[in-house]
Amino acid sequence: MTAAPQFIDLNHHLSPETLARKVNPLKDIIRVVTNNPQLISLANGDPHHSLYPIRRIDYEVASVASDDPVAQWKSLGASAPTQILSTSKDDESKRLLNSALAYGHGAGLSEALRVVTDINIKYHTAPNHVVTMTLGNADAITKCLRMLATPGDSFLADEFTFAPMPMAAEAHGVNWVPVKIDSGGLVPEELERILANWDPKRGRRPHVLYTTPCGQNPTGSTLSQERRKQIYDIAQRYDIIIIEDDPYYFLQYDAPGSEPAHMTKDFAKSLLSIDVDGRVIRIDTFSKIMAPGMRLGWITSHPAFHTHLVKFIDLSTQNPHGFGQILIVELLGPHGWQLAGFDRWVRSLCADYQRRRDFLLALFERDVASTGFASADVPEAGMFIWVRVDVEKHPRFVRAADDATGANVVKTNTTTLMTELFDACIADGLVICPSSVFILPADPRYDDMPSPIDDRSNFIRVTFAGSEETMAAGIPILGRVLKEFFAGSSPTK
Ligand SMILES: Cc1ncc(COP(=O)(O)O)c(C=O)c1O
Repeated sequence: MTAAPQFIDLNHHLSPETLARKVNPLKDIIRVVTNNPQLISLANGDPHHSLYPIRRIDYEVASVASDDPVAQWKSLGASAPTQILSTSKDDESKRLLNSALAYGHGAGLSEALRVVTDINIKYHTAPNHVVTMTLGNADAITKCLRMLATPGDSFLADEFTFAPMPMAAEAHGVNWVPVKIDSGGLVPEELERILANWDPKRGRRPHVLYTTPCGQNPTGSTLSQERRKQIYDIAQRYDIIIIEDDPYYFLQYDAPGSEPAHMTKDFAKSLLSIDVDGRVIRIDTFSKIMAPGMRLGWITSHPAFHTHLVKFIDLSTQNPHGFGQILIVELLGPHGWQLAGFDRWVRSLCADYQRRRDFLLALFERDVASTGFASADVPEAGMFIWVRVDVEKHPRFVRAADDATGANVVKTNTTTLMTELFDACIADGLVICPSSVFILPADPRYDDMPSPIDDRSNFIRVTFAGSEETMAAGIPILGRVLKEFFAGSSPTK
């Protein structure tokens, strides 16, 4: 067996905030007690577990005994087979109950860390990385960005992105630099171009890339293995830390047409699995495969980053969500689904979302693409279809001449028309997400694309996460509104 490569020292990426952050002295004392349970502790002001008004927690969860457990769960409704995961003060699960409900280690319960490490071992190759539990990906990303952001730094991200994350870092002085994205995800050549031509007058060259490789939100794009390798190679050459935000990893699909009973193909190889330096920080969540209200996920990172993250957690959110940790420990433990059952569930979930995707695409073809005013690619993962609206076919579409200075200026009225389309949908009872809400917040002075981002915002994001009834009701409205919108010349009906 060949030994795993040693990670390189990446501490120069840490922010002044991170370096200035001290260890929470109270947490240090708690750790002494946790590591030596025989010590008599008069140290901590935690409520004693005998006063928690909870004797037992029963989670009644779907059975994963069938081949397609999600289909069974949906079709049988209240009579679908279930299993009870019970954690009680009165049996051997007492320790789990008491420790999960107490103030805990910032990294998470040791049992929960074991569970997510087992998930990592099954789906990724990351022998040297370590895990930290989080309150979901939003929590994880904002913490990682703060761990790395020196005010005035420039960070890279997909030009259309899950904007709340970059916005949070903007408030910490990060300037975002958009990288072009197409139907195959982030374009490596564009990443390289930005880094190779970086003007030092703009400050330090970007040292962090935030990206979503599978079923990217909002574009639905998935990076091919080849692009992943190219991106990692560029990250090595330009010393970039990659924040791999991958909430849709477990929602990957086959091509349309195949009737999925169960997803059998391999899940895509993550950027984490390519990482030999320790420069990929991978962010996972239970939000899309269990329930978002669990507020539970995990970071997989270089041990040095783990240490700083735990320090941060110890001085902020304290520890991950106790009830959620009990659920995953029991669910993946010997009395629950175990890892094999978890795999069956997520593969069956893939099949369910694939059916939803194909259902939405069929409606889209019938009612929207047929208008000749919009088109969409087939997403290989995630929850979204990125609909391109052919604004240039609109009777009031205007393309202004380049301004004399040659600087990038808004050359079309795409934003105005897309706003009108959004309003027209609302007036007809349909809400869609306009691409404008996903634009990476970046300084327009440095937008050196052939056309400015506003001119490329002729997209809307439509989700297939909802019910078939919602899709069947909504897509015909979109088709109708598009037809009326492209026929009429007045801004509102
Ligand atoms: C790309 C992306 N990152 C992060 C999140 C937030 O995930 P969580 O619920 O785990 O905080 C979402 C949720 O929609 C998302 O699409």
